[in-house]
Amino acid sequence: MKLHRLGRVSFRAVKSKRDYLRHRSSYNWLYLSRLAALKEFAFMKALETHGFPVPQAIEHNRHCVIMSLVQGYPFVQVKQLQNPETVFETIIGIIIRLAEHGLIHCDFNEFNIMIDDEEKITVIDFPQMVSVSHRNAKMYFDRDVECIFKFFRKRFNMSFQESIDDNDDSDKGKNEAGKLCFSSIDKSAGVLDKELAASGFSKKDDEDIQR
Ligand SMILES: Nc1ncnc2c1ncn2[C@@H]1O[C@H](COP(=O)(O)OP(=O)(O)OP(=O)(O)O)[C@@H](O)[C@H]1O
Ligand SMILES: [Mg+2]
Repeated sequence: MKLHRLGRVSFRAVKSKRDYLRHRSSYNWLYLSRLAALKEFAFMKALETHGFPVPQAIEHNRHCVIMSLVQGYPFVQVKQLQNPETVFETIIGIIIRLAEHGLIHCDFNEFNIMIDDEEKITVIDFPQMVSVSHRNAKMYFDRDVECIFKFFRKRFNMSFQESIDDNDDSDKGKNEAGKLCFSSIDKSAGVLDKELAASGFSKKDDEDIQR
């Protein structure tokens, strides 16, 4: 169970980061928490339907989301991997596939990735996701990618030459120089926006909590 009920002080910090309120001068904490829960639930459900490795979204009510419990650990706690290259490619592959489906996680880092003993990945924490048509989409995409590169560099001593290693289909999303590139990603599979609109999370809700 995840409660999106945030204290006034901590929400002040969230407000400055996420700009949930846009141009409003007054706001209601429970309304914002309910929207965050609704958005998280809707996105988790849609991602699950499209085969992304996310918890199973079970129910939401007010500021509360019920989801399946992931059997694993936050990636930030992992000191060693049996197959760091495979895990790296899986994670980068998820970022690319998300963009192909029209979405950017926007907080894709070692705190929001769970990993189990078989090194299977589950992604969590979706209230800040945006569409690839967001005006700052490229910046958010690049930031997610850089967080992953940085973590693998520091924690697993992996080195990169501005690109991920080539294998059969890993050139998806790369430009001619082989660099992981937002504009080179084919976003034609991006139908998730429409599905999300039908899921109870309306365009107006998104406008209310968009950055
Ligand atoms: N489905 C789950 N199964 C097991 N553990 C989970 C699950 N969801 C979250 N957690 C654990 O709880 C922690 C916090 O969850 P999450 O990242 O969703 O919240 P948050 O970062 O506090 O939220 P927000 O960014 O929305 O304010 C995670 O780092 C993870 O350790
Ligand atoms: Mg988190």
